[in-house]
Amino acid sequence: MVVASSFEEAVSLIKDRLDIVDTISQYVVLKKSGANYWGICPFHDDKHPSMSVSPSKGIYKCFSCGAGGDALNFLVRIQNREYKEVILELAEKFGIELPKKFAPSSETKTQREAMLKACKKAAQFYNFQLKTANDSNKAMTYLKGRNITDEIIDTYTLGWAPNKHDSLYNELKKDFKDEILEKAGLILKSNQGGWIDRFRNRIIIPIQNENGDYIAFGARAVDEGQNPKYLNSSDSLIYNKSKTLFGLYTAKESIKDDDSVIIMEGYFDVITAQSNGVKNAVASCGTALTAEHVKLLSRYTKSRRVYLSFDTDSAGINATKRGSQVIKDTLATLGDIKQFDESHISTALDNKYACEIRVISPPQGKDPDEFIRTMGGEAFNEFVKEAPLLIDFLLNNILSERHDIKTPQEKSELVSKVIEILKDVNNKIIQTEYVKMVSSVLDVNENAILKELKRTENAYDNHISPKVQKFSVTNSSQFEIKAQKNLLSVFLSVGGSQNYQKLNELLPENIIRDETLIIVKNTIDKLIDTVNNVRELTKNLYTEFIEDDNITQILTDIVDMSEAFNGLDAEELEQTVRENIFRLDRCYSEQDTEKLRKHYREVNNDDTEALKLQMQLRDKIKLNTGDK
Ligand code: GTP
Ligand code: MN
Repeated sequence: MVVASSFEEAVSLIKDRLDIVDTISQYVVLKKSGANYWGICPFHDDKHPSMSVSPSKGIYKCFSCGAGGDALNFLVRIQNREYKEVILELAEKFGIELPKKFAPSSETKTQREAMLKACKKAAQFYNFQLKTANDSNKAMTYLKGRNITDEIIDTYTLGWAPNKHDSLYNELKKDFKDEILEKAGLILKSNQGGWIDRFRNRIIIPIQNENGDYIAFGARAVDEGQNPKYLNSSDSLIYNKSKTLFGLYTAKESIKDDDSVIIMEGYFDVITAQSNGVKNAVASCGTALTAEHVKLLSRYTKSRRVYLSFDTDSAGINATKRGSQVIKDTLATLGDIKQFDESHISTALDNKYACEIRVISPPQGKDPDEFIRTMGGEAFNEFVKEAPLLIDFLLNNILSERHDIKTPQEKSELVSKVIEILKDVNNKIIQTEYVKMVSSVLDVNENAILKELKRTENAYDNHISPKVQKFSVTNSSQFEIKAQKNLLSVFLSVGGSQNYQKLNELLPENIIRDETLIIVKNTIDKLIDTVNNVRELTKNLYTEFIEDDNITQILTDIVDMSEAFNGLDAEELEQTVRENIFRLDRCYSEQDTEKLRKHYREVNNDDTEALKLQMQLRDKIKLNTGDK
């Protein structure tokens, strides 16, 4: 066991143990060519090997989509997980002990273990009560009424919490401290000061994590008027409902095999589905779908094909809209959302899209549970095969209102709803195909729809542009950015801090102007005294920007460019910096001239002001040409 004194040190130790070629080879076939390796980039749709991996620099870089970074960045990105989570896992794998603050303390560890044991015991106790308790008959009758067989009861360890205030507590108190049982959400302080069971007179549905540990419970009412219908465990040391999916443990192999997952709403939807041959079904546990849920699922399905099968009422349709938005937002950075196809059944998607969202909404039954109980799992699977893409489902929903239309105004309103959906389709060919279809179904002029669509898109662009501006580079041309990056890459190729300071003295004020590059430069300034060589510097830079994909990508460009300056002596480096400064200066100066010109044109009406500017402009131009 190696002990790290800080989180950063742990990251550094992990990075030392991560080989870039080994790491990437686990996901991409790499071929050696010269000093580098090449493979097909997994972060965009590609058939050609555009991604290079440099063992000497420890980076990967895709020349097609621009993705790039070090080995850790690759892992975080491809697994689509929080980097802290990945770090904790790798630390354990490499036997690196994290500082107390980050590693679960041994006390918490002991508590967690005890809580897991208590939950398992509780699940077994409730399951036994279902079979033996005096008052469990009504629960058994209820379950049988929902077609839940004895076999299903045992597969999911379904149980019964008797209508007594302390049956579970009496059973578990000899093996577990009160504190543990309370933390696990199994008991509560009573008004009299003693302990009472949290779940009473309810059917118990144990919730397992992806490894099969029992971590929480859902408990359903059985009596008329018993509220709430479901009582669920609160979050605890071992249970986070935003990260837990009911049924994942029993579904995960099927999700992998089918390369798809079906998300449902309720515990019983999943139990009935899985028990009737729809094995890749999961549900959130009494909460709306979260980004964490989506990330969890994306680890099991490679092509991220997600079916939503919610209740068929309007609440279910709203949940479908909301849930699909969460999926899109969570996976958006990985590429396009699949929005059009004719023969999805035979397509092998292989990471072609960021995700593919389809909606299963059979006309019979209020939810998947009811449908499968009456029509069977086979019939449900037929609907899975035919499930429309999200966009088709949403459009159909809107278009089905067309029969109620009486006036042109109502028709226009319907078209607005369609446009709301079509404006998000990036691919113009696909978008116009949909416009054609809608135009014929609604009998509205195609060009009129296209015009409205354009108007909405423009308004939308203007509306979001301030936000986009914030993240994009500030008023520098591509050429200027390239020149600034080039200048920075010289600094990155310098090992020792003494040489670095010498080069730094050559830099005029305000020579790096791009916001992001200023941040990178300042960070190099900060780190340079703490590192011994270029490799360490690069490694620590990546660690600094571990959570920022944009900067990581830019940093990779700079690291890549710095190769050119390897092995230059101090004097040659100085010369290179001077040349770069000269080039940038010229660039800026021309830009200033252009600004003056523009200003001149604008104020041309005011004679005196114009004259003054004209003089300035002439001076500027003289200066520029004199430089050459
Ligand atoms: P059944 O009537 O048992 O079939 O339930 P259902 O799955 O049809 O219930 P519904 O569609 O109403 O709810 C779906 C899911 O929402 C349930 O599985 C629970 O996880 C959750 N849920 C439902 N009712 C409650 C409630 O009263 N409280 C809480 N916390 N969650 C609930
Ligand atoms: Mn339901």
